Amino acid sequence: MMKKLLLFLLLVSQHALAVVVQVNEGEMSVLLPCKYSGFIPEDPTVLWTRNDLDPKSVHVRQEETDDLRGQNQRYRGRTSMRPDALETGDFSLTLTKPTKTDTGKYTCSISAGRGEERRLRDLQLQVKDQQVEVKVEEGSESVILPCKTTPDLPEDTTVEWTRSDHEHMVAHVYSNRSDDLKNQDDLYCGRTKMNEDLLRTGDLSLTLEYPTERDSGGYICTIYRDKDILRQKVVLHHVRVYQVEVDSGVESVLLPCKTTVCLPKDAKVEWKDMKDRKVHVYKNGSDQPEEQDQVYRDRTKMKRNLLEPGDLSLTLKHPTDGDNSTYTCTVYSREGKILLNKDVLLTVRVPQVEVDSGVESVQLPFNTTLHLPEDAKVEWMDKNDRKVHVYKNGSDQPEEQHQRYRDRTKMNEDLLKTGDLSLTLKYPTDGDNSTYTCTVYSREGNILLKRKVELKVRVCQVEVEEGVESVQLPFKTSQNLPEDVEVVWKDNFGRYYYDNKVHVYKNGSDQPEEQHQVYRERTKMNEDLLKTGDLSLTLKHPTERDSGEYRCDVVTNEWIIRRKTVQLKVKGRVQVQDQTGDIRNRSSSIDPTPLMADQSV
Ligand SMILES: *[C@@H]1O[C@H](CO)[C@@H](O)[C@H](O)[C@H]1NC(C)=O
Ligand SMILES: *[C@@H]1O[C@H](CO)[C@@H](O)[C@H](O)[C@H]1NC(C)=O
Ligand SMILES: *[C@@H]1O[C@H](CO)[C@@H](O)[C@H](O)[C@H]1NC(C)=O
Ligand SMILES: *[C@@H]1O[C@H](CO)[C@@H](O)[C@H](O)[C@H]1NC(C)=O
Ligand SMILES: *[C@@H]1O[C@H](CO)[C@@H](O)[C@H](O)[C@H]1NC(C)=O
Ligand SMILES: *[C@@H]1O[C@H](CO)[C@@H](O)[C@H](O)[C@H]1NC(C)=O
Ligand SMILES: *[C@@H]1O[C@H](CO)[C@@H](O)[C@H](O)[C@H]1NC(C)=O
Ligand SMILES: *[C@@H]1O[C@H](CO)[C@@H](O)[C@H](O)[C@H]1NC(C)=O
Repeated sequence: MMKKLLLFLLLVSQHALAVVVQVNEGEMSVLLPCKYSGFIPEDPTVLWTRNDLDPKSVHVRQEETDDLRGQNQRYRGRTSMRPDALETGDFSLTLTKPTKTDTGKYTCSISAGRGEERRLRDLQLQVKDQQVEVKVEEGSESVILPCKTTPDLPEDTTVEWTRSDHEHMVAHVYSNRSDDLKNQDDLYCGRTKMNEDLLRTGDLSLTLEYPTERDSGGYICTIYRDKDILRQKVVLHHVRVYQVEVDSGVESVLLPCKTTVCLPKDAKVEWKDMKDRKVHVYKNGSDQPEEQDQVYRDRTKMKRNLLEPGDLSLTLKHPTDGDNSTYTCTVYSREGKILLNKDVLLTVRVPQVEVDSGVESVQLPFNTTLHLPEDAKVEWMDKNDRKVHVYKNGSDQPEEQHQRYRDRTKMNEDLLKTGDLSLTLKYPTDGDNSTYTCTVYSREGNILLKRKVELKVRVCQVEVEEGVESVQLPFKTSQNLPEDVEVVWKDNFGRYYYDNKVHVYKNGSDQPEEQHQVYRERTKMNEDLLKTGDLSLTLKHPTERDSGEYRCDVVTNEWIIRRKTVQLKVKGRVQVQDQTGDIRNRSSSIDPTPLMADQSV
């Protein structure tokens, strides 16, 4: 008898290793494994306990029957063992509906009769509520369901991908160092793949090809590593992405979200953007504007009585390209369960206008069909928030515009009646490159429309051959510039240092003492330049070394009110070698003669 007991103790101690078992909250059940191949004493009792509880008993099997009199009430009706447990030595415990409070250390032990308990195994049960959400768009070639664990897994590791919502539905199994697909469900046949080298990397993600609506739902990645059973949950959502594209300047855009299923009256509808900002919230039978993000204030509308016809579409007023986003419409039941989840991709096109420098004027187009009130205000702004043109109270308001745009803008007559709110900008230069925004306000100051147009003016290019008498760097702008302006031409290609002054005109006359010496006696500007608005610069005897970028700024009170860039290219004709042998790079095509002379020696 003594000998038997010793053997029994020895075997027991070998099995008393702590093992980790993970399960996700919401699963049907979890199995806490405890297999025993040793000697089973007479009158055996198998006990499952949790020492941190009082009473600590989780489950007791005595002889053939369960004895649950002392069971902790939180496990009531949730535990079971195999009927033949004491014959087979499989003392594993099934625990149904695991919740987070079931997390803890469980001990499986055995005793002979009413004698001393011997611990067979400690198990750490972890009930998790984390899950990874994966979205896949309709028509995608494949999707990856992520599952990662520690690298360098033992060779006998088994990985099982199953559906959490259809128990026993197997998507993929990896076991004994290769795929084992004999139990794979037909639905997944030929569509699943796991990484090579997964034992070394610990990346057990599953690639699912040609995913369809039927693949949506919960997946469990179960890893059998040594004695541990680790689980990770991935929820795959199949999203049908609606794409909506509109031009900047439309009154509103409809983001569709319709459903044919009946939604409960107390459902909550939430529209969110890609940055997780709330766009619109409807709950408890009404809109909840106080919950929405600032950006969307007064700009959204959902249909009344929306839960009846199942149309949860959202109207977003005066969209701009800043509203480019994927919008998600989610419907929750009162208990917080997701009933519907749809995405809409919105793109707001910003028209681009590109013109050559030197054109008389350019139009930033904006036509609307919206009927505008007579007292509407129209404001064009540039991207630095400078007012370009203001129309209100029935007329243009030139005193409100920034001086950069003075005498250079024009809007049509009767613009509120015709809906043609286009802006004409005269004498555009590359300094006018900007995104212009036109906003129409009601008398109360509410935004009715918002339109953006991007303007690009190509840099002016001038090309001459070396040897010409002079070259003109053109710059024409509006007439009658203020008398106190300063007009400065600079070179912008780092000839000696950056911004060498080429020509300066201020206080009514040229200022030759301010110009860099290389330009002395070589520049000329027109008479009456402020009156005529012709600020072109004449550069005499240009050489190839004058090639580069020139910029003219018109400055008043330290504000640049006009700016233009001219790219000058002076093509050299010959390469000159002076007596010291210093080769001056005067031509873009280097004369090969000196090299050939060398070779002939
Ligand atoms: C594992 O695979 C090897 C050969 O690849 C085979 O001999 C062995 O029986 C397999 N073991 C199991 C448990 O399937
Ligand atoms: C729902 O709305 C009713 C009145 O419309 C209000 O009395 C109630 O407090 C609201 N409930 C919640 C949770 O906001
Ligand atoms: C919005 O989308 C349009 C069209 O794709 C693009 O031209 C524009 O740059 C986008 N705007 C922003 C702010 O992302
Ligand atoms: C705007 O409308 C006017 C008048 O209907 C038309 O002449 C003009 O071509 C339109 N402009 C654009 C850019 O569509
Ligand atoms: C609007 O214009 C009228 C005359 O055209 C003028 O009497 C009135 O003061 C203006 N109102 C504002 C707010 O500028
Ligand atoms: C303005 O846009 C044109 C065309 O894209 C570009 O070549 C030029 O460099 C821009 N100028 C400035 C000052 O950004
Ligand atoms: C501007 O020119 C006038 C005469 O033409 C001269 O008296 C005055 O000092 C000048 N002012 C400056 C700031 O150079
Ligand atoms: C001539 O051109 C070469 C190669 O482009 C350059 O390395 C060299 O510095 C230039 N010499 C002069 C004098 O500009």
